[in-house]
Amino acid sequence: MSSESALTIKLKLNNGIEAPAIALGTANPSESRPKVKETVKAAVKGGYRHIDTAWFYGTEEYIGEALAELFAEGVVKREDLFITTKVWPSNWNNPSRSIDESLKRLGLDYVDLVLQHWPLTFKADADGKPIIKDGNSVLDEDGDYLVTWKKLIELYKKDNKKIRSIGVSNYTIKYLERLLKETDVVPVVNQVELHPSLPQVDLVKFGKSKGIITEAYSPLGSGGAPLLKLPIVETLAKKYDVSGADVLVNYHVKSGRFVAPRSTNIERVTRGFKSVPLTADDLKSLDQEGIDHPHRYINPGFAKSVGYDNWGEEKPFK
Ligand SMILES: NC(=O)c1ccc[n+]([C@@H]2O[C@H](COP(=O)([O-])OP(=O)(O)OC[C@H]3O[C@@H](n4cnc5c(N)ncnc54)[C@H](OP(=O)(O)O)[C@@H]3O)[C@@H](O)[C@H]2O)c1
Repeated sequence: MSSESALTIKLKLNNGIEAPAIALGTANPSESRPKVKETVKAAVKGGYRHIDTAWFYGTEEYIGEALAELFAEGVVKREDLFITTKVWPSNWNNPSRSIDESLKRLGLDYVDLVLQHWPLTFKADADGKPIIKDGNSVLDEDGDYLVTWKKLIELYKKDNKKIRSIGVSNYTIKYLERLLKETDVVPVVNQVELHPSLPQVDLVKFGKSKGIITEAYSPLGSGGAPLLKLPIVETLAKKYDVSGADVLVNYHVKSGRFVAPRSTNIERVTRGFKSVPLTADDLKSLDQEGIDHPHRYINPGFAKSVGYDNWGEEKPFK
């Protein structure tokens, strides 16, 4: 029904910068990380202009290699792309180091968006890597997650050419309320798990009222894309003659949100996503799925202390 690409849809951040609504996710399982170089090249050639990464994903160096080749081949220029990276809680007290190291791996002199990855503080070694005990990061009980945000504000105010925007990730309303009360820069984005099984209606609404755009991670339900099997997704895919992935991505962009679907399948990233004219009723039905049957897919043990709703069964986070 619609063959227009959704990859050209843009959103305006609260600092005036525009960014493509769809980002390529790159939190790949370790065995598929080297594939990220070819994936990024194919994705950019297919029309993606926004890439989502983090130190934790171990994919920044592959993205850096891909970008260097794309620039050298003249496919895109740096300013055509929007690159997001994140600061892991082990660097809660030193986001500057984390950003400099990410820039080095990415081969860039600026990032478009830096996110505080989780509102948590971890104990770290001298290099800022987390100290692991019994398979889990050790919480730094003396730390304060808001210090990371305050330091990001300082860095952003000092040099907004190196860090063009700052935002947060995995914040709940309670955490956003404290941030807004105690600091003077409103995050441009709050990146959280968000999909029809976890619509987070109140969090999205709260963000919107404060100028914070919510960005959806794990939009397909993470590994194996389980949400493609939801009956409401299948019904809407049939209604509009598009794929289930098109429906799951348009659920966000048609609601004015960012979304970061991941794939290392060259054919899929080259194809991108169609723009689907989902109606207000379609969006409501997708929300209703998770209001009735909430399910969270990303629930690592270390994050339990944040106090999320619908926590579910903890899974290892590798
Ligand atoms: N801020 C945070 O704490 C946080 C946490 C989790 C994720 N994220 C971000 O969000 C991104 C996406 O989340 P995610 O990695 O959990 O997973 P996701 O995007 O929900 O799902 C990825 C899975 O869907 C499959 N897939 C992708 N497109 C498909 C299609 N068209 N048809 C069928 N299967 C398809 C992929 O397989 P193929 O590779 O074979 O296509 C992969 O198995 C991450 O990569 C990361 O950038 C952020």
